[in-house]
Amino acid sequence: MTKITTAILKEKKNKQEKITMLTGYDYSMAAMIDQAGIDMILVGDSLGNVMLGYSTTLPVTMDDMVHHTKAVVRAAVNSMVVADMPFLSVHVSIPDSIQNAGRLIQEGGAQAVKIEGGMERVDTIKAILDAQIPVQGHIGLTPQSVNQLGGFKVQGKDLETARKLIQDAKALDEAGVFSIVLECVPSELARRVTAEVSCPTIGIGAGPYCDGQVLVVNDMLGMNTGHIPKFVKKFVNLQPLITEAFKQYKTQVADGTFPGPEHGFTIKDDVLEKLY
Ligand code: KIV
Repeated sequence: MTKITTAILKEKKNKQEKITMLTGYDYSMAAMIDQAGIDMILVGDSLGNVMLGYSTTLPVTMDDMVHHTKAVVRAAVNSMVVADMPFLSVHVSIPDSIQNAGRLIQEGGAQAVKIEGGMERVDTIKAILDAQIPVQGHIGLTPQSVNQLGGFKVQGKDLETARKLIQDAKALDEAGVFSIVLECVPSELARRVTAEVSCPTIGIGAGPYCDGQVLVVNDMLGMNTGHIPKFVKKFVNLQPLITEAFKQYKTQVADGTFPGPEHGFTIKDDVLEKLY
């Protein structure tokens, strides 16, 4: 296997080979994702929900992102690591936005950053690209705009918003993003966008016609105890298995069956005898 690059992802789109991306927030999970041959690990600001227990991604800070990116990067041998620009990190001046993106590359070790937003972010995205930082776009349902969007809803269902989505995708593509995440948009609209742009599209709740797919790792592993969006498929349901393991541990510690002799260490009798 070779380290995945933006050029490899573009080649995959051209050859119509599907691209895979999963979120990852810590070393152990990222190592398993990498070993499974997933193309990209997204250190998503969804870590605010999944790792930190916030109800939205809005409280996530640059320091949170750098911290988790470092852990994922240590595990990612082949997968490309993309780190999310959190709320307010690209809503500031262009020099400050470049500094923030640069932290995820220089301190975090990511290969690219992801930025939510369409045409309104193009100037900032161009400046970050000029700083030699690859950028992944993200349009459709952009969770950092939850208060403006009025909730976590499917986007682009009427003529005006569907047209806007296509215009946003084209503007990002022309600006030079290496791929675009399409979140919660109708499948046929995602198909149109995918045909209109030269860079790969990565869908989440955007149907089968995107060039690739992304899911939140805890959702697809069935480790999320809260709300599960309709577009998630649980490839395994770990939550009941994990809870059962914790219960067995509690029972076995209480009844003395754990730890057994096989989990302990020995000491020679003569050493023990000399203790008294
Ligand atoms: O933060 C995240 O996990 C994301 C994905 C939903 C694409 O942005």
